[in-house]
Formats: sequence, C-alpha cells, structure tokens
Amino acid sequence: MAVATAAPRASSAVQRLLVLLMLCIVGASRAANVTYDHRAVVIDGVRRVLVSGSIHYPRSTPDMWPGLIQKAKDGGLDVIETYVFWDIHEPVQGQYDFEGRKDLVGFVKAVADAGLYVHLRIGPYVCAEWNYGGFPVWLHFVPGIKFRTDNEAFKAEMQRFTEKVVDTMKGAGLYASQGGPIILSQIENEYGNIDSAYGAAGKAYMRWAAGMAISLDTGVPWVMCQQSDAPDPIINTCNGFYCDQFTPSSNSKPKLWTENWSGWFLSFGGAVPYRPVEDLAFAVARFYQRGGTFQNYYMYHGGTNFGRSTGGPFIATSYDYDAPIDEYGMVRQPKWGHLRDVHKAIKLCEPALVAAEPSFISLGQNSEGHIYQAGSLCAAFLANMDAQSDRTVKFNGNTYKLPAWSVSILPDCKNVVLNTAQINSQVTSSAMKNLGSSIQPSDGSSIAPELDTAGWSYAIEPVGITKENALTKPGLMEQINTTADASDFLWYSTSITVKGNEPYLNGSQSNLLVNSLGHVLQVYINGKLAGSAKGSASSSLISLQTPVTLVPGKNKIDLLSTTVGLSNYGAFFDLVGAGVTGPVKLSGPNGALDLSSTDWTYQIGLRGEDLHLYNPSEASPEWVSDNAYPTNQPLIWYKTRFTAPAGDDPVAIDFTGMGKGEAWVNGQSIGRYWPTNLAPQSGCVNSCNYRGAYSSNKCLKKCGQPSQTLYHVPRSFLQSGSNDLVLFEQFGGDPSKVSFTTRQTGSICAHVSEMHPAQIDSWISPQQKVQRPGPALRLECPREGQVISNIKFASFGTPSGTCGSYNHGQCSSSQALAIVQKVCIGVSSCSVPVSSKNFGDPCTGVTKSLVVEAACS
Ligand code: GAL
Repeated sequence: MAVATAAPRASSAVQRLLVLLMLCIVGASRAANVTYDHRAVVIDGVRRVLVSGSIHYPRSTPDMWPGLIQKAKDGGLDVIETYVFWDIHEPVQGQYDFEGRKDLVGFVKAVADAGLYVHLRIGPYVCAEWNYGGFPVWLHFVPGIKFRTDNEAFKAEMQRFTEKVVDTMKGAGLYASQGGPIILSQIENEYGNIDSAYGAAGKAYMRWAAGMAISLDTGVPWVMCQQSDAPDPIINTCNGFYCDQFTPSSNSKPKLWTENWSGWFLSFGGAVPYRPVEDLAFAVARFYQRGGTFQNYYMYHGGTNFGRSTGGPFIATSYDYDAPIDEYGMVRQPKWGHLRDVHKAIKLCEPALVAAEPSFISLGQNSEGHIYQAGSLCAAFLANMDAQSDRTVKFNGNTYKLPAWSVSILPDCKNVVLNTAQINSQVTSSAMKNLGSSIQPSDGSSIAPELDTAGWSYAIEPVGITKENALTKPGLMEQINTTADASDFLWYSTSITVKGNEPYLNGSQSNLLVNSLGHVLQVYINGKLAGSAKGSASSSLISLQTPVTLVPGKNKIDLLSTTVGLSNYGAFFDLVGAGVTGPVKLSGPNGALDLSSTDWTYQIGLRGEDLHLYNPSEASPEWVSDNAYPTNQPLIWYKTRFTAPAGDDPVAIDFTGMGKGEAWVNGQSIGRYWPTNLAPQSGCVNSCNYRGAYSSNKCLKKCGQPSQTLYHVPRSFLQSGSNDLVLFEQFGGDPSKVSFTTRQTGSICAHVSEMHPAQIDSWISPQQKVQRPGPALRLECPREGQVISNIKFASFGTPSGTCGSYNHGQCSSSQALAIVQKVCIGVSSCSVPVSSKNFGDPCTGVTKSLVVEAACS
C-alpha cells in the first residue's frame, strides 16, 4: 500500500516540478527582479537612473493614451506614474467598473506596449485634486467608519480595495515580477504631512497600511511618500518643487522623488499658475546631482477633470498643470524639449552615477560640484545656486561659466553637455483657433456649419421642490450627508406666513441672512432670485445677507446650495462638510426671525438630472424649440446640435458668454464650466523670473480674467455627422455666444546664444576625441510630413522678444535671413551653427545669439 500510494505522489510531484521549471524558463526571459539598495532601484541586478512622469488615465481618453505615452517616451521618460482612483472603480460598494477611461489594465498595458515601466500609486487615498481625494462617497456612510486612522471599518474597506487592485494587476500579469511593467507601488499618500492630527491611532494606522501592503506580495518594492517613518522595507519618498535636500529614512534606501510639481493646479476664481522650465530643469539636475536616482514629474500630462471628478472645493475642469504635455495632448515647448535634453544629459551620466558615491566640492559662495568617479567613468554636476549672480568657477583645471540658478552637466567631467538655464530646444506657439459658428475646412472646400444655427432648445429647471420623494425635517442639514454627492445640488425650502406687522419687517422689506459651509448659494423668494454668493478655494464659507421683499400671506423661501468638488486634502478633509448649516435669519428694525430650526423640505439634485436631460438620446417633452430662447436667466437647460470640426486638431468649447454650469457632449460630461469666475486683479507677473525658489503662487497669469474659458472635448467624444451639446446653466448666460475652437500650432521659434553648449545629440563620446561642434539652432516641424515653408524672422546679434514678436537688436548681421532660409526652407528639420563664422561678426566683443521664427506647412 505504502509503495502504491507513494509512487503516484512522487510522479505527480515530479510533473509539478517540471511544469514549474518550464514556467520559470518561459517566465525568466520576461520577469524582472526589482529590488533596491541605498543608491537606486535595482532591476535584474542593475542599479537604474530613472525618469518618470505622471499621467492619470481618467484625465484623458483611451484613444489618447498611446500618443501621450509615446510623447513621454520621446521626452526621455522610463516610467509612467499613475494613481488609482477608487471612486470611479467602485461607484457603488461592491460593484466594480474598469471600462473606458477607467480601464486601468488597458492603461498599464499601453505603457508596457511602449516599453516603459509603471509606478502604480494605489493610495487608495490619492489627494490629486480629485473629488473627495479619490474616496467613494459611500465610504462615508459605512457604520462606525473613520477615515485614514486606526479604525476597523476603514481598514477593512481600504484593504479590500487595495487587494482588488493588486489581484487585478496580478491577474493580468502586470507586475515586473510576472513580466509586466509595474516596478513600484505606493500605499497611502502624504500621510506623514497630516498624521499628527490623528495621534497615536494615526501611527498605528500607518504601520498597519505598510504591513498590509507588504503582505500582498507584489514582488516589487512599495513606497510611501512624505512619510519619514515609513517602516522597512517600504521606501519613504519626497514630494515638492525641490527634493535635492531630501534624505531617505535609512541608509539602505535610495533617494526617490515621487512628485516634482511641473507647474500647479488651477482653481475656479484663481489665476493660472506656470513654472518656468529653467527652474524645473534646475530642480531635476540638482536632485540627480545630490544622489537622487528616480524622479517623477507631477504632472507630465495633467489633462482634464471630466464630469464631476474635480476635487476641491473649486478645482477647475482643466488640469493642464503647465505640464510638459498640455491638456490637449500636445507637447508644450520649450518645456518638453528642454527636459528631454536634460534627461539625455543625465542618462549620459548614468554609468558613473550608478557606479559611484558622489563626492562634494565647494566651488565658492553658493556654488558646488558633485563628482561621480569610478575607474575610467567620471560625471560631474556643477551648480550655481545663487538667485542673482552668474559665476565663473574652476574645476579640474578648466573654467566654467555658470549662469545664476543653473546646473551644468559634464558626462566626462570635462565637457558641458547641458546647462539647465540655457535652452537649445525650440519653442512652439500654440493657439486656440476660434471657429465661431462656422468652419473653413483646411482643404479649402466649402464652409461647413459648425453649430446648428437653427438654434437652441431649452428646458426650464423649476425653482424649489418638484420631486415627490422630498424629505421634510426640522432644522438645517449638512449637504454631503444629505446628497451623498449624488448631485452638486441640494434645495432647502421653507415658507413663512406674513401678516405685515412682524418685527423683522420694514414695510414689506426684510434682511435675509444665510450662512453656509459652501460652496455656492442662490436664494429665491417666491420663485425669484433674491441673491447669490460663492466661496473660494481658500475659504468655501458663505455668509449671504440680502434684502428681500415679502408679500402678505404665504412666502416661499428656496435656497439652492451647490458643491463644486469635494475637499481632497488635509486631516479630516472628509468631515469639512458643505451646504446651509445656518443660521438662516430674517431681520428688521424691531427684531428677527430665526428660521434655522423651522421645518425645511429637501430635494437632492435637479429635476433635469432625474429626467436625464443631459442625454439627448432620451427624448423628453421638457424641451422647447423656439428661436426666442430665454437668455441670462438662471436655472435653465440648453441643447443644440453641431458638426465636429474637421481634421484631428484637439477641440475645445469656449464658454465665454455663459455663467456657470455643466456641459455634456453626446451624453458625456466634459465637466463643470464657469467662465464668469474671475482671477483676482493682482498677483500676476508679466514675466516670471525663474531664478530663485519657486512656489505655487510665484508665477501666475491671467489676473482679472476668467480662470477658464476653454473646455476640452476629446475627439473620441465626437462623432461624424451630428453631435449633441447640452448645457445646464445655473446663473444665466447666452448660448449664442458659445463657440468652438481647435488647438493649432503656429510658428516654431528658437533662441540660441554663442554661450550655449552644442545640441545634445552632437555628444560623441565621453573621451571627446573628436572636436565638438559649437552651439547650433535647431528647428523641427511638429507634424510628420510638414516642411519649413517660411522663415518669418531671423536675426543674429542681440535680438530680443518672444516667439511671434522678435525684434532686431542694436547689433544684427545683415545676412541672417538669407543664411537661415538657405539651410531651412523645404526641409522638415534644420540645424544652423550659431557663430560669427557662419554669419559674420556684426559687433565684436559682444555675446551674440540667433533667433529664428519659422512656419511649417
Ligand atoms: C500633493 C499630492 C498630490 C497633489 C499635489 C498637488 O500634495 O500628493 O496628490 O494633490 O499635492 O497637485
């Protein structure tokens, strides 16, 4: 018996072993072993210098993903970083959705297809200017739950979703340990910034989160950002505008930078932030100079907050972020190009960077060098951290000129391949072309109607309670607890009976006070708008005081409270609340009437939302077709048809003329629009000085102007033939002013001085046996098949100005235009040496530069 049973066991064990062996052999060719040491992430035993960039999959569309990822690859990225957005994947507890823009597996595979790695930041709290920080709002209603602390209900939900994501990735074979692209994963997000508010329970939760993540056995390292006490083996990483001063918590961990903010996010009511590339490049170079080996641009492509996905309150629909790829998916120049050159320069240093520890040398006041030397390998970074003065420094017996706030990169410890403040890359001027209500197709054929001028239909959204299931209760209820964020809108309705002699009356007048946690409030008395107010990104609180006229008998008071994205950051952000929490009071010369505890009737959402008016494929008798549609009237739906602009240029709708609302194209929400919310008058700069430490309000533009007028309509939302556009207008506007625009590239320009290093692609070998060429100005048409058709401007000497408005300086060569025309016209790219040898010397002893503006067709 013993033999009889043992034999089959032995043979099946041998079989299993064989299968395992075969799996190993097949897998071994693809699976990667990802670990780390004190210098770097180590892939298959090799330390790597990695450049990463954030692209959030739901902020673009699946048809955009491959193009964005390819542009990231062409820009020199090795890794794409994304958060995982819990709320979109589990909109209802236990019901998962990974379709369309939510196709996380598809996105990770698209990155793999391009040959790049993925850093998957599961969170599942993500911040990210995303509604409720990425938490589904149902989570708030789980009995006994407390977010992001040592709370069993929360931990159970967090673990369940994290496991779901990890299992989904494992199921698709997406971890590097399985041959997939995921080399890193993140648990939580910047908890260390706020954990003290949660006391000892916060620390316990953090340790639990770390242990839970590790137990999921992904085969790749985990990180926690901004968490200096992240338990081993989790790597603590840095987020910020600069991270060169950061050191990880133990000397067995590498120095990683998970968020290098490439710009900043936009709020409704705020000015538009931008970050000069010279400063961003400086920050990047300083990080690698001082021992960093992985940095990630947050964002590399920011994209669009479609639907009601923006966090808040008051985060705008555009999440452009001044990123190297703009909201529409086009490279932003010279940001993208200069960073590509920076990445190439750093990659030239990689062999030395991973082989050696940096050694420091002082180069004088505010200047320092770091050298990585191992055997014949040598790379050096020379930095001038002074925000004002250029410096000339001596290094290894040579002299180097370091502009203020810049780093020079020397892949052979001798030749400067790049200086972060000297941009060799071209500038592309992009502009939104307004197509108005008609479009001239690019092939010159007949003019096609863009917007169906047959006009707009409309549907009036009634004031106050219209739904039968409305709830009546004494007192004022907090909004998020009441709506569960099913809609932005909550009606609060009550009525009072007036005799005429009440102490709160002055004749028929009274003063109404309404206090609200935000975010937007409209007050209707007897169906008429009596006042409105809004909070702001810095404080969402509203205290509205408005005179009201009351009539003898019954008076209706309807308050419409609106949220504009739920809070996403800070300790206890989930408990901030919104809506009218009181007091609500009428007052007059002889007294007041406090309505805070009276009976209020509540209606969640709009009638039009219930009727799905945003989805025109569902016919509704509500719509009125009449050329004399009402304008500048609050609470109204509009609908029209349009033909998509021809071609494949990115499309945006210009909502100038409208107030505030939400827009749907063929039933898909393109987000909230709010062109009447203006940036403050002051705080902007005409031209931003990149020298000196950057902060989110250092470089702002569009003061006094609408924060956002243009709203991206992804091409995949459009169809050939007729398209539907539906608007819900809350404040009042004139839809006849709505227009379509496409994003088009105008001129290409470049400005290169004699002092610039040569173009990076001319780097030959670390030994530099061959004489390196001098600086050159390079132009390349943005689209395949295009050639340079016109040189609009060329000047060698001391030209000034910006792309589109250059001027000759006091000194300029008379031959510049002819020389540039000869080299560049008729070709898709050209390179012109920037030297007096080429142009003649129009002014000896002066540093000269070449500027060119060209057109491609
Ligand atoms: C960080 C956060 C990100 C994002 C960023 C600002 O603190 O981790 O998710 O919110 O700030 O854009």
